[in-house]
Amino acid sequence: MSRRKAQIKNEEKLYGHLESNLTALKILRLGGVKNVAQFAEHLRELRLRIPCDLGILPAGESPLFSTVSRGGIKIGNRFAINPMEGWDGAADGAPTENTLRRWRRFGASGAKLIWGGEAVAVSHAGRANPHQLVIAEHTRSGLAQLRSELVAEHRRAAGSDAGLLVGLQLTHSGRYCKPNSQTRGEPKILYRHPILDRRLGLGADFPLLTDGEIGGIIEDFCRAGRIAAELGFDFVDVKHCHGYLGHEFLGAHTREGKYGGSFENRTRFLRDVVQGIRAVAPGLKIGVRVSAFDTVPFRPDSALSANGTSGTQLGPGIPEPYADLIPYRWGFGVNASDPTQPDLAEPIQFLSLLESLNIVLVNLTAGSPYYNPHIQRPALYPPSDGYAPPEDPLVGVARQMDAARELKRRFPNLLFVGTAYSYMQDFLPHVAQAALREGWVDSVGLGRMVLTYPEIFLDAAQGRAVQHKRICRTFSDCTTAPRNGLPSGCYPLDSHYKTSPAGMQLAALKAKR
Ligand SMILES: Cc1cc2nc3c(=O)[nH]c(=O)nc-3n(C[C@H](O)[C@H](O)[C@H](O)COP(=O)(O)O)c2cc1C
Ligand code: SF4
Repeated sequence: MSRRKAQIKNEEKLYGHLESNLTALKILRLGGVKNVAQFAEHLRELRLRIPCDLGILPAGESPLFSTVSRGGIKIGNRFAINPMEGWDGAADGAPTENTLRRWRRFGASGAKLIWGGEAVAVSHAGRANPHQLVIAEHTRSGLAQLRSELVAEHRRAAGSDAGLLVGLQLTHSGRYCKPNSQTRGEPKILYRHPILDRRLGLGADFPLLTDGEIGGIIEDFCRAGRIAAELGFDFVDVKHCHGYLGHEFLGAHTREGKYGGSFENRTRFLRDVVQGIRAVAPGLKIGVRVSAFDTVPFRPDSALSANGTSGTQLGPGIPEPYADLIPYRWGFGVNASDPTQPDLAEPIQFLSLLESLNIVLVNLTAGSPYYNPHIQRPALYPPSDGYAPPEDPLVGVARQMDAARELKRRFPNLLFVGTAYSYMQDFLPHVAQAALREGWVDSVGLGRMVLTYPEIFLDAAQGRAVQHKRICRTFSDCTTAPRNGLPSGCYPLDSHYKTSPAGMQLAALKAKR
């Protein structure tokens, strides 16, 4: 049996309960696609506009390894590491050896833009899980070590740290705060959401954050910005994506008072944080990662979910009922008349605002891992709290790439990082090269692929064969593990996790399902 066939057989053994859904949707497993020509043909058959080069250029000629300059910022190549947390910080929010290992691997990728490393909470109360990093006086030395070990590893892999830009992603988890226990949410919400409140069990009397409490959170962001600057980070990302607090502000149409309603009010948080950080850390650059569009929350179709001998079969994702919620007023970048569709009008206004604030670093993402993961992180295999793919994941990749292309066309002076490329698997270098060559984005952001195979672009551009066995197959264990209280990591493909006690626990949990 060929290696590829054996790998597919192994996938079927591990994730066989999804077979019926993959067959129903005719989703082609990219692990079995023999070469880039066949992949390009597949894209044509699906009528997806995803650019794809048939050959890989050597580093000296490759757009992936060319520099990019915008607004006084110069970056040494065109690929970035997108933020990815590991649920492996210490109880006090300091990094652990697992965190340091992940950041060293970010450095080993050779990427000259490290977008935040991972979400770092600006306060204990704002943590998304009890193991999230926190930026505070007591975590200074740990955060400084993350940066210095990443830079050292980058120098080793890339030869020099010229043109390297390292940022820290600052976050408050808002609706998804879980600072003290993996099983107990402590949400901080800005408005009542008819679907998400129900999901989180929040009654009509659940308190909203007051304007005064918001003022305190803005101060936390500013203090965090000052510490990040003192630790030598080049920029901070004021996170506005994935359903966390910054993103919730953008959709706070129904909130009363100075942080809700009009576009001006819904962006007051951003403007206040930017002004405050610039006052205390004038040399620090600021970036924004934003969910550029969204849809209503999705759930598994219960009519197509089942318990069988091979475990629970999650039904394909379907939107929560929304007929009674039109015009839809609980999101950002959502079409109010048909909230399953994006509407880029306000995101365009938001980018104009960033430009007027002299913010050029923009990282585009979409949706949320909590309520519509197929939009945010296209995958063949869902995490334990997800649903089977409602569409070919390539459609999800094309949706994010297309939005990025349109926004970049409109804002040539901003420096855009694109997202959701990992699903391209073996053909990621071909698609990334083409997207850059055709000017769809300024930098290609890598998420999950970095957890399995950080050196993918270095191997491709230096003429080494791309290592098929290390390619992320979007198994989603890096999300399933933390949903079950375990550290995140690539359990199927990274032996550091596979053979760890957490790996044994995860295997046992999956066997029970
Ligand atoms: C394990 C894991 C952790 C993540 N943590 C963060 C995070 O801390 N901040 C963030 O903005 N996005 C986070 N993301 C989203 C990724 O940055 C990225 O948007 C997503 O994985 C899609 O890109 P990809 O297709 O390259 O994986 C995370 C994703 C994964 C899989
Ligand atoms: S667990 Fe590994 S293979 Fe699966 S999605 Fe995460 S990084 Fe990719």
